[in-house]
Amino acid sequence: MDAIDRAAKMIANSRYAVVFTGAGVSAESRIPTFRGENGLWRRFDPEEVASIDGFMRNPKAFWTFAKELILKTKAEPNAGHYAIAELERMGIVKAVITQNIDGLHQKAGSKRVLELHGSLKFVDCLNCGRTFGWNDIIDKIETGNVACDECSSPYLKPRIVFFGESLPKDVLREAIDEAKRSDVFIVVGSSLQVYPTASIPFIAKDSGAKLIMINADPTEKDWLFDVVIYGKSGEILPKIVEKVK
Ligand code: APR
Ligand code: ZN
Repeated sequence: MDAIDRAAKMIANSRYAVVFTGAGVSAESRIPTFRGENGLWRRFDPEEVASIDGFMRNPKAFWTFAKELILKTKAEPNAGHYAIAELERMGIVKAVITQNIDGLHQKAGSKRVLELHGSLKFVDCLNCGRTFGWNDIIDKIETGNVACDECSSPYLKPRIVFFGESLPKDVLREAIDEAKRSDVFIVVGSSLQVYPTASIPFIAKDSGAKLIMINADPTEKDWLFDVVIYGKSGEILPKIVEKVK
């Protein structure tokens, strides 16, 4: 039986499956990943564009990066996101824990999504406290002039977790609870290099879950997994859902 068959069997027989995703699940939606050959961290310095210190020094650098990360692609969910949402509709996947801030799981129909690194849905002015929706910000990014309508401060901060900030405690606690409850834990498209997020698959394993990895490339954590499938999540996940059905 090949790895996809073994994964489908584990998922079909699961009582409480949980999915954990990283940038790789959105790669086929043309959102660049962070690491790997054309990863964002090859073109941008995370310290400058994705750390809280960098943001406070120069918020413009973040917004230029954000344009590259999300805006340019006008990203739509891909077959991988839809397959995960389908498994939730089938009552198999109980939660999606994601490191991604692109909102594509929700766009594809997933209901229970725990966004460990926040999302770009809302942006707050650190100066006057005014909150903007992502749509208000989009045309500001296009013009390259991201400033508050109210007080014209440039410090419009999205509700994402910058390097140097701690994860939203309540979301992290919920994610850890889901990992502990899971009997099958499926990691899709993550290099598992960023902590504390990358410790969550270990928590699932320690709680007795079977672990499945779907990733384009090998990671340093493959040894942890019961089934490892190398390839594109947008191709592999729909195949697994067909077999589960
Ligand atoms: N299908 C499946 N996996 C893919 C695909 C694909 N189409 N394309 C790329 N991948 C894999 C890569 O092999 C890589 O291992 O996705 C993984 C993406 O890893 P990273 O770019 O490191 O992304 P991620 O693990 O989500 O990074 C975690 O780091 O920079 C911070 O906050 C940022 O949330 C991010 C965190
Ligand atoms: Zn303001």
